[in-house]
Amino acid sequence: MSDIVIAPPMVPEVVRDAGGNAYLRHALGTASAVGFEGALALAIASAPTGVVITDPNLPDCPIVFTNPAFLKITGYPPEEVLGRNCRFLQGPGTDPAATHLLRRAIAEARPVTVELINYRRDRKRFINELRCSPVFDADGKLLAFVGIQHDVTARVRAEREAVKARAAAERANREKSDFLAFMSHEIRTPMHGVMGTLSLLLDTNLDAEQRAYAETSRRCGQLLLATVNELLDLSRIEAGRLKIGSEPFNLVDPVREVLDLVAPAATEKGISLSASLDHRLPARAIGDVQRLQQVLLNLVDNAVKFTNRGTVEIRMAALPDGRLGVAVTDTGMGIPPKLRARLFTRFVQAEGPPLRQQGGSGLGLSICKRLVSLMGGQIAVDSTPGKGSTFFFDLPLVPVPASGAPPSRLTPAVDAILPAVPLANGRILLAEDGRVNQLVAAAILRKAGYTVDLARDGAEAVAAAESAEYDVVLMDVRLPVMDGLAATQAIRQLPGIHGRVPILAMTASAMPGDAEACIAAGMDGYLAKPLDRGQMISAVEDVLNARPRRPRAAIPLPEPGNVAPLLDRETLEELRSAVGPGRLPRLIQIFVEETRARLARIIAANNAQHIEDEAHTLKAAAGTFGATALRDAAAALEMACRKGDAPARLTILDSLASLVDRTMNSFPAQPLTRTG
Ligand SMILES: Cc1cc2nc3c(=O)[nH]c(=O)nc-3n(C[C@H](O)[C@H](O)[C@H](O)COP(=O)(O)O)c2cc1C
Repeated sequence: MSDIVIAPPMVPEVVRDAGGNAYLRHALGTASAVGFEGALALAIASAPTGVVITDPNLPDCPIVFTNPAFLKITGYPPEEVLGRNCRFLQGPGTDPAATHLLRRAIAEARPVTVELINYRRDRKRFINELRCSPVFDADGKLLAFVGIQHDVTARVRAEREAVKARAAAERANREKSDFLAFMSHEIRTPMHGVMGTLSLLLDTNLDAEQRAYAETSRRCGQLLLATVNELLDLSRIEAGRLKIGSEPFNLVDPVREVLDLVAPAATEKGISLSASLDHRLPARAIGDVQRLQQVLLNLVDNAVKFTNRGTVEIRMAALPDGRLGVAVTDTGMGIPPKLRARLFTRFVQAEGPPLRQQGGSGLGLSICKRLVSLMGGQIAVDSTPGKGSTFFFDLPLVPVPASGAPPSRLTPAVDAILPAVPLANGRILLAEDGRVNQLVAAAILRKAGYTVDLARDGAEAVAAAESAEYDVVLMDVRLPVMDGLAATQAIRQLPGIHGRVPILAMTASAMPGDAEACIAAGMDGYLAKPLDRGQMISAVEDVLNARPRRPRAAIPLPEPGNVAPLLDRETLEELRSAVGPGRLPRLIQIFVEETRARLARIIAANNAQHIEDEAHTLKAAAGTFGATALRDAAAALEMACRKGDAPARLTILDSLASLVDRTMNSFPAQPLTRTG
């Protein structure tokens, strides 16, 4: 035998023995301190695993060699081991299937690995991972078996504990989810009763203080219901009980629906809300439209909540990998990087007082993440504090195959993918200071598919018309800071297409010469207040289609002697269908609040001009809501002020408060509130 060279050889030579061992021999033949057999003995003696050699050519295949690790694992001295078959290590609990495997492998002279229970000399059990291999001589004759033993008790126990712990955790989680689902149901049922009763209460005669309390209760109730619904969703998801549907749907539908639902809140905050869809998207796809809408609504609702000025935009695009990409971008306060990492985990709310005030259960984004993942996608966020955030998610896009006809598209093809073609038919600037009229007009226009931006005074309108391209400007004539006529003249001075934007007046004036004044200021037509959905849409369409424009009819003044009803239900119903179901109760509520505040200002005013201005706006708003008697009284008051008829003004003012009260109390009938 040759020697092992320990130092790196100058010219190494690889030498193999009959057993397949390899070692290096120095070319110069320098002797190593360790002989080859010595090296082997060292290796086996210091191995951390047990090594035994058994001889199958002796009766019962006894152990003829053992290393110290085997003796240590089993606790036996060598004289009690050598000459015995290894089965002496077995005992109660040793799996017969494992010994059967061993027996067969040994009989067939095959290698085998098994895990089986063995006993130490002190009768302590241990789990032995045994590898058993046959050893043959050069002629293929079976010489011996080598067994390698490894005490894996600690590892196996740890694994079993981990499996048990996981099962227990899963069971506890399931129980918790069941409990949550059960409790959510239990809470929801009486809550619906509470909410319904509050709605009924709000429809009765309440004084301002009582109404405020009832309103607060309803708002809190709505928040609580939303939280309970989220809990229910989360528990269903966690218990694996939420099934994702797979039905054909129009891709544009969830976007429209979300715009519709969030528009009132956006309008109230003066935020521009818009959506665009990539022209390459199919018109219809297969998926779970409700869950898609739920995720979208959550993101857009959050975006509006955390944005105080600017825009919230939804974009849907066909991604290069053929998937659907959805992005919700806002110009809000943004999310600090520390929070971003934890944003999609449960119970994480935006930190800091201004964000915390917005409320929320902290479950919404976690639910979004789980829903998106259940639908086969991923969700992420990108944000710059102080500038805004973009939430995006992707989903598999399964288009509904076109049936014969060429695939329909949402919009005509355009070159760019994003920003894509606006979802709406056009972009409209609405210059209006009355909150109710703003909400009504914006709701009507948005429902018709237009994108609406708001300006609250004439100067804002001019600035907006200068900075963006609008298809139409709807301009209230009486606006603070700069009136509608002056704002129109200023817009007409703007360069390029900004100065040529079509402008429609919105006026509640019925005075001769008003229409001429609007046209003289550079307007293209005028719309009478109260706003009528049909007239408004067709006037806007006329302008967009550049059809010859007809002047709109102005509001007819009441015939003398005609006693107008408190509430014209037909107008109210028309308004309901114009703004979309569910919105009217909220609009009425705002109208009532605004009217009461306006009445207080009228009574406190010491200047006829102020009263005239307030009466003018009241006339328009009352007309919009079908409050006919109030509209007429406001019109008469406006006229009395304009003519300087102090006795008439005082007579009207005397009865105005009671008329406002009666009118407000005549709102609204049950069917209107039940739609919400
Ligand atoms: C090299 C070698 C090492 C073995 N080591 C063990 C051992 O550590 N523990 C054990 O329970 N069985 C061991 N066995 C298996 C038993 O010796 C025996 O083959 C097995 O129990 C099946 O045979 P039987 O049914 O005759 O008992 C080993 C077998 C060989 C050939």
